Amino acid sequence: MKASGGTDEAKRRAAESAAQQVESGMVVGLGTGSTAAHAIRALGEAVASGTEIQGVPTSYQARALAREAGIPLVTLDDARPDIAIDGADQLQPDGTVIKGGGAAHTREKIVDTSAERCLIVADDTKSTDVLDHPVPVELLSDAVPTVERSIRALDGEPTLRTARRKDGPVVTDNGNLVLDCAFGAIEAPDALAGSLSAIPGVVEHGIFTDVADEIHVGSNDGVSIHSA
Ligand code: 5RP
Repeated sequence: MKASGGTDEAKRRAAESAAQQVESGMVVGLGTGSTAAHAIRALGEAVASGTEIQGVPTSYQARALAREAGIPLVTLDDARPDIAIDGADQLQPDGTVIKGGGAAHTREKIVDTSAERCLIVADDTKSTDVLDHPVPVELLSDAVPTVERSIRALDGEPTLRTARRKDGPVVTDNGNLVLDCAFGAIEAPDALAGSLSAIPGVVEHGIFTDVADEIHVGSNDGVSIHSA
């Protein structure tokens, strides 16, 4: 699993704070990454104590963790999530976030936006006033050269994400590739999101605007919760 800058304690506090909002009978979108993993484990403990929930995983990793934790799983064909709990790579105060550090942002966006409420969980190193984290863009492999050109035309610098213990690029759970696109400070995330979505060959990008309903930011001392 990919590691981020925050402490595991801070991630756990944020995730457990959000998991407390899950009630028996709910369908829960299960996010991907090291912070969301804490929420999945906390929900697994709740299931072991009798809470009846069903999970909709956002990735192979989330599905495997949920199975290990004993959370019954369903798909979006079966049910709409009441709540989703998901991590973020960077977030700004209005709730706009950049996701996709684990290359799972396409399914995450589908599940998070389909949920009645989306709770974002993050450690305190992820907060910023203006987003400037490279934006992950999932794309069809045939489209790499043309999408790279389009990203450069938007003043972005694309880098094909490479795998750690495999030669060549990261291949997503959907069989696609990922460009990490550096734009510097992103003053208008909504506009950039629209421009990225309009590029032929782009499957999904990691800018999530108007998705988060509540943000749980954990630190070594506690958790702050605010509405987005
Ligand atoms: C995966 C994601 C993750 O939620 C994001 O990368 C945060 O991960 P972590 O909690 O491990 O820092 O978007 O695609």
